[in-house]
Amino acid sequence: MNFESMKLNRDRFGKDEDYGKVIPEDEAFELLNDWVKNEKLIAHMKQVAHLMAAFAETKGLSESDQYRWYLAGLLHDADWEKWPESHCRLIIEELESRGVDPEIIRAIASHGPKYFGVEPKSDMDKMLYAFDELSGLIHAYSLMRPEGYVGMNVKGVKKRLKDKSFAAQVSREDISDAANRAGISLDELIQFVVINQIDTRDKFLL
Ligand SMILES: [Fe+2]
Ligand SMILES: [Fe+2]
Repeated sequence: MNFESMKLNRDRFGKDEDYGKVIPEDEAFELLNDWVKNEKLIAHMKQVAHLMAAFAETKGLSESDQYRWYLAGLLHDADWEKWPESHCRLIIEELESRGVDPEIIRAIASHGPKYFGVEPKSDMDKMLYAFDELSGLIHAYSLMRPEGYVGMNVKGVKKRLKDKSFAAQVSREDISDAANRAGISLDELIQFVVINQIDTRDKFLL
């Protein structure tokens, strides 16, 4: 994939007057059901959404803020399956046309700085970037453990991180870059994901 073609070449997203505006959860799922057929991708977005909401809650943010973080996670890869070459430009434009909060849109726009060319700035931006790849690797690890997430520990996850052949598509470079930017140690981040995971393995029809 040519990274250059994925660059968004902009740094402002959404409209100031839409600050604080969200779409209801059923509308978000309607959009997902329209755009995404791959259940694994839906499960990934739900997992990231759940982690985002849980993190916002631990930070003591209000319920409406938790929902804004949740939405950023839930929709961040919505256009990936249908239009991989235009990921994440199309979901950004869609949310702009629906008048969604610029902070939510910006978080989505910065979830892959080396691809989209948008630096994560806010906490929401940084945590979406931090949870994205790491949760994918941890989920893959849970699928190969008979007990899933039960009894999983930081040491085991770090072993998989070091083993480059495990979930090889997951960028280790992005994971450590994201943890650095978030100012959270990798151990802490892993611990948070493990504790707050949702077990989506039923979605995988194993
Ligand atoms: Fe993505
Ligand atoms: Fe993702």
